[in-house]
Amino acid sequence: MRLLLVLLALGANAQTRETNPYALTDRDALATGRKLYSFYCVFCHGMDGASGRGAQLASPYRKHGSSDREVYRSIADGVPGTEMTGHPLEEDEVWKILLFVRQIEQNALGRGQGCRADASGGDPVKGAAVFQNACRNCNSAASRLGPDLAAIGATRSREHLRESMRMSQI
Ligand code: HEC
Repeated sequence: MRLLLVLLALGANAQTRETNPYALTDRDALATGRKLYSFYCVFCHGMDGASGRGAQLASPYRKHGSSDREVYRSIADGVPGTEMTGHPLEEDEVWKILLFVRQIEQNALGRGQGCRADASGGDPVKGAAVFQNACRNCNSAASRLGPDLAAIGATRSREHLRESMRMSQI
């Protein structure tokens, strides 16, 4: 009986395909994905993938892999060691949510987000100098005092980073 329960639990998350059976042109699948996303994901990621609690999805870059299989696993199993827990959804539901995430990526590409360092009118050269002086001692791969921020722009939105820096008075 216990084995059966374990098998059932695994079955809920099993992934049988490598790639998404749905395309962005599948309007019904996209609408369902949007609805599921607005229920399960919006709190942390926001409908645009950049608001919410600041975990960034409005970018084509994926820290944990960008293939359909890898993003599927991020959604279904979560990202260990972070707030992002797994979601015990049906396979079909995960593919539809993933379709909506692809739509968010497309929109971000259209706006040039996540690609252009100067999109906000900031100065990346000055920013790098400030980072070297004020942040690098703690927030780099070589240091163990704080988290490595090398790819932070890919996983946290601009607003979230701005707010976090304001709070630490940089
Ligand atoms: C409780 C907050 C929370 C919820 C709810 C949540 N996420 Fe996340 N998610 C995060 C955080 C935080 C990260 C960044 C993990 C990291 O630092 O690598 C993340 C990472 C991800 C990633 C990987 C991004 C990358 O760069 O590889 C994907 C994809 C993702 N989430 C999609 C979703 C989807 C789709 C849902 C809804 C089914 C969802 N998340 C629900 C907080 C959340």
